[in-house]
Amino acid sequence: MTDKQTRESFGSRIGFVIAAAGSAVGLGNLWKFPYLAGMNGGAAFLFIYIVIILCIGVTAMMCEVVVGRMGGLNAADSFEKLGGKRWKPVGWSGIACAFVILSYYAVIGGWIIRYMLHSFTGLIELAAQGKSAEVFSVFVSNSGEVIFYQAIFMAITAALVLMGVKNGIEKSCKIMMPMLFAAMLILIVRAVTLPGAMEGIKFYLYPNFSKVTPQTVLAALGQGFFSLSLGAGAILIYGSYLPKTANIIKSVRQICLIDTSVAFLAGLMVFPAVFAFNAPPEAGPGLTFITLPGLFAQMPGGMIFSAIFFLLFFLAALTSSISLLEAPTGYLIDHGMKRTHATLIMTVLIFLVGIPSAVSLAGGLNVGSRSFIDAAGYLTDSIMMPLASMLCCIFAGWSLKDEKLKAELTNNGTINFPTYGFWKIMMKVIAPAAILCIFATGLKW
Ligand code: PHE
Repeated sequence: MTDKQTRESFGSRIGFVIAAAGSAVGLGNLWKFPYLAGMNGGAAFLFIYIVIILCIGVTAMMCEVVVGRMGGLNAADSFEKLGGKRWKPVGWSGIACAFVILSYYAVIGGWIIRYMLHSFTGLIELAAQGKSAEVFSVFVSNSGEVIFYQAIFMAITAALVLMGVKNGIEKSCKIMMPMLFAAMLILIVRAVTLPGAMEGIKFYLYPNFSKVTPQTVLAALGQGFFSLSLGAGAILIYGSYLPKTANIIKSVRQICLIDTSVAFLAGLMVFPAVFAFNAPPEAGPGLTFITLPGLFAQMPGGMIFSAIFFLLFFLAALTSSISLLEAPTGYLIDHGMKRTHATLIMTVLIFLVGIPSAVSLAGGLNVGSRSFIDAAGYLTDSIMMPLASMLCCIFAGWSLKDEKLKAELTNNGTINFPTYGFWKIMMKVIAPAAILCIFATGLKW
């Protein structure tokens, strides 16, 4: 195991916040959140989502960062170091989860690269002829091309992880996150000034509770965990690179706020455009790749907006994928392997495991009623992440000594944390119980 002196760390607390917010802000916010909100009653979903983030998300993230910083190692070894061998599987499941997520995340990352480039080479013209759905299905059924772009996305992710925590992850996020915000603002201004945009804003901001079912709540819970990058060992390992003097409480609040704001803004970017051009808001996963090019085609300067939009997506996906790759890579590094070797091994393995997801889009490769890529998503978002996160809360709440936990959170009493008692109850009882209840009512294969 690497010793403390040689282990890498972030350069500053803000570096950590930006990198962790980069991990959190990703396809979950820009791609999944708008379509889930579209399918689940607009503002009603937004409302349930915010409640889940406030009650469960903040608590669960605080637990992950604390366990990471206290353990000072990757997820599996941090759990073992702090709680003994029997807790190690929780860390393992987190690392496995990051592995599985990245296997399909890179496939979608590949679509984004392809769409970004295609914005300049005919996407908009084809979309103007009403052929967006055809463009999408022709592309995804060409497995060779999908795998090619998946490989490019994995290679770019690997290049950044290869450069290390401070020079690769922290620096690249510091450049990419502001770009992401700027691109988003441009697109929101464009969307809300379209004629007819008001209808979309209404749909998004007026709640329709008639569409809410237990599955909606499970979807919001899974989305909350996915969006905050919880239960996948990613935030945990970032926590292990956090300097001991940094304020965890403030950092976690900032990360959750940034992540939720971006999800909210993503809806504001998508729905006005969807309504302005009479597209169906319940289009599901195809919302981004089918509906939006059609919308861009009807806008003046559509090619530019399309390119900005997919660039935005690409940056968001990349700041998340590097954290997903760092979770398993960091494990190998903690066990003495060189960063270069560890990164390359993990990249190749994850790429190979992602191939069935890439191929499943062409049809035929199913697990039960779901396509392989869908099944992988359901397994991680709705089962593995909430479960690992629940166990992390139980571990921090019941197994760690109270004085140690409090000392870690308050940097040995130098930070004021008046709501510690409340937070402890959330972590020990409320968050795990809520996750269990939602599981019991909503889980459906
Ligand atoms: N939070 C990322 C997103 O919203 C996905 C992710 C999950 C990243 C788990 C890291 C760990 O896209």
